[in-house]
Amino acid sequence: MGGKQGKGSINKKYCQNSLTTDEPISDEMEQKTETSNSVSTPKTAIVVGAGARGSGYSLYAKMYPDRLKIFGVCEPREFQRTALMKAYGIPVENAFEDWKDAVKRKKFADCVFICTPDRLHKDPAVAFAKKGYHVLLEKPMAVTEEDCKEIVSTCKENHTLLSVCHVLRYTPWVQKVKQIIDSGDIGDVVNINHTEPVGFWHFAHSYVRGNWRNKATSSFSLLAKCCHDVDLICFWMNKKCERVSSFGNLSHFHKKDKPEGAGDRCLSCPSNIEENCPYSAKKIYLDSVKRGCKSWPTSVISDIVDIENVTKALQTGPYGKCVYDTDNDVVSHQVVNMQFEGGATCTLQMVAFTQKICAREVKIHGTKGEISVKDGRYPPIKVFDFLTKNTTEYEADCCIVPGLSGHGGADYHTVEAFVDALHNPDTDTIATGPDNTLTSHLLCFAAERSRLENRVLNRNSLGEYE
Ligand SMILES: NC(=O)c1ccc[n+]([C@@H]2O[C@H](COP(=O)([O-])OP(=O)(O)OC[C@H]3O[C@@H](n4cnc5c(N)ncnc54)[C@H](O)[C@@H]3O)[C@@H](O)[C@H]2O)c1
Repeated sequence: MGGKQGKGSINKKYCQNSLTTDEPISDEMEQKTETSNSVSTPKTAIVVGAGARGSGYSLYAKMYPDRLKIFGVCEPREFQRTALMKAYGIPVENAFEDWKDAVKRKKFADCVFICTPDRLHKDPAVAFAKKGYHVLLEKPMAVTEEDCKEIVSTCKENHTLLSVCHVLRYTPWVQKVKQIIDSGDIGDVVNINHTEPVGFWHFAHSYVRGNWRNKATSSFSLLAKCCHDVDLICFWMNKKCERVSSFGNLSHFHKKDKPEGAGDRCLSCPSNIEENCPYSAKKIYLDSVKRGCKSWPTSVISDIVDIENVTKALQTGPYGKCVYDTDNDVVSHQVVNMQFEGGATCTLQMVAFTQKICAREVKIHGTKGEISVKDGRYPPIKVFDFLTKNTTEYEADCCIVPGLSGHGGADYHTVEAFVDALHNPDTDTIATGPDNTLTSHLLCFAAERSRLENRVLNRNSLGEYE
């Protein structure tokens, strides 16, 4: 068998699993400033939505104050707004409860980070782009095809940069897989088998109790969770998808699945039922605080993470509800089948009921070899060569910067690429620009339409799926 450390390997430095917004700025982060490409005047940003993502991306300005300055904030929640103001010295006149008041003013920064909930992406993206702000926009771009198209056309018309946070495109392992495909080592790609294991408690947190539980208030599961994955498949395949079909359902998290005698909230549920429920909020949040963990997901449910405040949140807020008794309706598992130009095929599977959390598994079958990735965040990437029967293992730099280490370091690379583009608009650093992002979003909408209408959709000569 082939040896470790394939060609082009990069050493792993250190790894953390998730982005925690309350992470202190360490000495290592401060030191980054000295080693970054020094640029005398930092570009200025307004953060629209200072929740988990907005405050996370802002950390880049702590690390590289010579490249980026957080200069404004739009956030209705006082705690989050003042936290950002304090952290970055944002003047009072640049702090707003509502983004509409900021956009009314004469342009006062170079760019905006739009990190509002899914249904609040399109309006600020379009309004700020019309004013000439460059836009870093959280995924999904928007929740309808029309709105996605409007964002893209507005940014193009106003010559503003648009980078959508399909962060995984920037992940070193994803880039490494792309390099291997492009090298021709596995011949022509004929099939991709891609699984996104959401994780049983993660699904309960985000898609049963949390912000993405209900299509009418957020978006459908495939768009919310797997627009990343559809985008990766398009990136690796590098061809147009011609046909798409999809199936999926919501299983288990229904009122009919509620055990007899269970309470409406986990804290008031009879102990013989609560103890046997893997989705109990007590287990997911309270036990974790008792173990001293203050980060995600508990940081989402309470501004102050301690036993008293988390208990209060579970007694009164959405995260303490019984998983069989919420207003959730988004699917828990879905398969998408795609056929690309030339006949290559792909299957994407999203499933809630897994031990692993977002540890993507990928098999890419070529005419001369096969690529296997067991858990995207951790190397190695294995390549089996049909001729030599050797397996070569490639390492990819799995994550880099404390604080912005989310998605295997991709959060850091996403902001870095955008800030690079702000400083050097002629360079092509943004991998998640308007055209490829729109393509993969339109494919997500088509897949969902296929699921709902129970039919195969074909791409017509105008690039629309019908
Ligand atoms: N790229 C990724 O991998 C990734 C990961 C997680 C979430 N997301 C997306 O990022 C976005 C934000 O998610 P989050 O987890 O940070 O949510 P969050 O709830 O922590 O933050 C959203 C913030 O927007 C604020 N907000 C609401 N209305 C506003 C308004 N009118 N003006 C300004 N701010 C307003 C909310 O108060 C909140 O603080 C969502 O669209 C989500 O789907 C992307």
